[in-house]
Amino acid sequence: MELKNKNVFVTGSTRGIGLAVAHKFASLGANVVLNGRSEISEDLLAQFADYGVTVVGISGDISNGEDAKRMVAEAIENLGSVDVLVNNAGITNDKLMLKMSEEDFERVLKINLTGAFNMTQAVLKPMSKARQGAIINMSSVVGIMGNIGQANYAASKAGLIGFTKSVAREVAARGVRVNAIAPGFIESDMTDAIPEKMKDAMIAQVPMKRIGQAEEVAEVAAFLASQEYLTGQTIAIDGGMTMQ
Ligand SMILES: NC(=O)c1ccc[n+]([C@@H]2O[C@H](COP(=O)([O-])OP(=O)(O)OC[C@H]3O[C@@H](n4cnc5c(N)ncnc54)[C@H](OP(=O)(O)O)[C@@H]3O)[C@@H](O)[C@H]2O)c1
Repeated sequence: MELKNKNVFVTGSTRGIGLAVAHKFASLGANVVLNGRSEISEDLLAQFADYGVTVVGISGDISNGEDAKRMVAEAIENLGSVDVLVNNAGITNDKLMLKMSEEDFERVLKINLTGAFNMTQAVLKPMSKARQGAIINMSSVVGIMGNIGQANYAASKAGLIGFTKSVAREVAARGVRVNAIAPGFIESDMTDAIPEKMKDAMIAQVPMKRIGQAEEVAEVAAFLASQEYLTGQTIAIDGGMTMQ
């Protein structure tokens, strides 16, 4: 798919990986929707001024089905279509299993997994009708390998991989492709919150011995959106962490 002049909705794009993904698509000539639960600031929109594309800020909560429908409708009203959806928004709420409450578990599932379901359902009909579209789900190496203290997060990210394959099979014949990205340890606010000592221990487990950059993940998102014979796959960008 040629990305120039396409319309791309990136959930959770006020910072981190989502913001880098939005910049990447805009640099390729695509119009982008920036999203987060918080207000989309004028300063954030101004970052995109030099790309010569349309950038729209639509705030809302992906874990709320009605909000997801409203946001997609607003995007279509503003841009005419959503050609690419990047289900990037996600949270962590780490606790050891013995200390994790049902609420701790469900809150993460509700945003990371149900949120992707809500947004995908909202875009799928118009994409199928247009016989064109790409959906990219931001999973994680934790969904492949598991991680201590992240039973909720791992379940949500593994769930996204199964979700990706199922929806990909359902809509492949209609020209809509669905893929996932499994980033490793990437520099962002999410990983900044991890204590320095633990970060060093995590980097030691990466064959390439360094943290990844959000821009590197964004390259994969643009690749997955553009490749017309690629669907149902999960691409790990992780410095070699999950190689077998
Ligand atoms: N960083 C890593 O090492 C890493 C590794 C593997 C996978 N990932 C995945 O990559 C994605 C982005 O991670 P990140 O590190 O860039 O995270 P981040 O810096 O914490 O950013 C998260 C983004 O999601 C938005 N968000 C959170 N909940 C939302 C909701 N309910 N509705 C709409 N927007 C919401 C946040 O905005 P508001 O706060 O305004 O809502 C923010 O824009 C996540 O899915 C994460 O699980 C990250």
